[in-house]
Amino acid sequence: MIKREIHIAYEEYDSIDELSTADRELAAEAIRAMQGVYAPYSNFHVGAAVLMSNGAIVHGANQENAAFPSGLCAERTAMFAAATRYPDEDMVGIALAGGMRGHLGKEPATPCGACRQVMAQYQAKSGKPMSIIMISADKVWKFEKVDDILPLIFNSI
Ligand code: THU
Repeated sequence: MIKREIHIAYEEYDSIDELSTADRELAAEAIRAMQGVYAPYSNFHVGAAVLMSNGAIVHGANQENAAFPSGLCAERTAMFAAATRYPDEDMVGIALAGGMRGHLGKEPATPCGACRQVMAQYQAKSGKPMSIIMISADKVWKFEKVDDILPLIFNSI
């Protein structure tokens, strides 16, 4: 038996102001995207913004439904809209911001497993790393690639 470890490195910033210009712009768009939230059941608001290889930024916000599973997270709303609008472009990065009733929490909102799997798919489609920025009121995390938030990605078919 060999004991193996998975090492994950990521960056932590005090605020989006510390990010590079491009990352700061994407992070600001994720916060702006929270305006599109429809979350009458959880009241948890999430905005997401996807940066495409042509420079375009596409918003998404969580959309809830009385039949709960019919709703969708902000990240997948953004990625599916981006893939539909720009089918021939790559997704270079995604940023998300979330909190109860639209107030950013102390810890960054982190993507659910299903959204990570969808990120993995679009990263595999492009063949290049897709970065992820997670934003809270007190700190910002940046991960360089989807592998870092979804180790042992399923990509067997
Ligand atoms: N939600 C997102 O939009 N993104 C996430 O990464 C986690 C959760 C939404 C789904 C639901 O509308 C609400 O937050 C509470 O789970």
